[in-house]
Amino acid sequence: MNILLTGGAGYIGSHTIVELDKAGHSVVVVDNLVNSSEESLNRVAKIIGKQVPFVKADVRDAVSMNAIFDKYKIDAVINFAGLKAVGESVAKPLEYYENNMNACFVLLNVMRKHNCKNFIFSSSATVYGDPAIIPITEECPKGECTNPYGKTKSMLEEVLIDLQKADPEWNIVLLRYFNPIGAHESGLIGENPNGIPNNLMPYITQTAVGLRKELGVFGNDYDTPDGTGVRDYIHVCDLAAGHVCALQAIDRKCGLAIYNLGTGHGYSVLDVVRAFEKANGVKVPYSIKPRRAGDIATCYCNPAKAKAELGWEAKYGIEEMCRDAWNFQKNNPEGY
Ligand code: NAD
Ligand code: UD1
Repeated sequence: MNILLTGGAGYIGSHTIVELDKAGHSVVVVDNLVNSSEESLNRVAKIIGKQVPFVKADVRDAVSMNAIFDKYKIDAVINFAGLKAVGESVAKPLEYYENNMNACFVLLNVMRKHNCKNFIFSSSATVYGDPAIIPITEECPKGECTNPYGKTKSMLEEVLIDLQKADPEWNIVLLRYFNPIGAHESGLIGENPNGIPNNLMPYITQTAVGLRKELGVFGNDYDTPDGTGVRDYIHVCDLAAGHVCALQAIDRKCGLAIYNLGTGHGYSVLDVVRAFEKANGVKVPYSIKPRRAGDIATCYCNPAKAKAELGWEAKYGIEEMCRDAWNFQKNNPEGY
């Protein structure tokens, strides 16, 4: 298939190009580079041996999006484009709602006009809020999102569900990602956050490389085995491979389908710190800080549905995630 990746220069998008190429698909990327660099696509070219077609454009720009669909015959779209910093979304709600919602609306309209009705959406475990069931299955009711970023994911899921109901020709897969970390084993592509990282793994790698003094552990009084927050970390290459399997579901005319993409294992913040130190032989100085607003104690999934219906399951464990995250950071201490 010929797949359009919106936001394809970003962290998950760049790794997904590699997996799509491996599976024999062709890729076109559109990205406005608001949170990424074209260098990631040059690095991908080194891995797969060819440059993928890239259009620098904002997905909210219908003229540019129409031009892409006029130029390329697109069979399916994977929509990675979006702003994703939780704290920033609280400070700039209008920008987040405007970007994430409008980009998706423009894209869906352009797709419909070109009779391309196959869509994969990057959703998030954040739609479960403080989950009612652990491990989280797809049947777990959605919960209260505490920030505008999470609300854009939850609202767009509803939009997509209604769209598919109104026009069953659409095949729409909502992929609820748990916590992607790690990098491609080559060390050429990886997570490259702007400024001070918000998420745990990039903060750990930047501390280990000496860019940050110490990791702040946000709370050690949660109702978890060691008191620190527990999450379902998943290797970004496993996550990327999940998109290839989702395309197979689309090919089988799945209608609407929802899948958790996680490993099913929960690791605490201190588990991750220890695993990182063990895998890489480096120290990660840390100190306990107050809880971060909006955080929950425990979030990990039951990935059985994706295994049963997509034949997908995570291959990599926490050691490989830590090894590959460090490999990218070491090779790219200043990012791309
Ligand atoms: P990322 O920021 O690295 O990639 C997103 C890309 O979208 C960036 O390259 C950015 O430049 C681009 N973009 C943003 N708005 C755009 C617009 N209007 N037009 C064109 N391009 C635009 O983030 P990522 O980690 O690769 O995440 C990809 C998707 O997965 C996002 O939608 C994110 O919300 C979702 N997601 C990520 C995580 C995570 O932990 N990384 C977890 C759950 C869901
Ligand atoms: C966060 C977002 C979530 C988003 C996900 C992936 C919040 C509340 N949630 O999830 O919406 O989908 O990222 O982008 O921000 N931690 C520390 N010190 C740090 C950073 C994190 O102790 O410097 C802890 C957190 O408290 C948490 C765990 O590490 O227990 C994981 O945090 P993080 O990587 O930010 O992911 P989530 O909070 O799960």
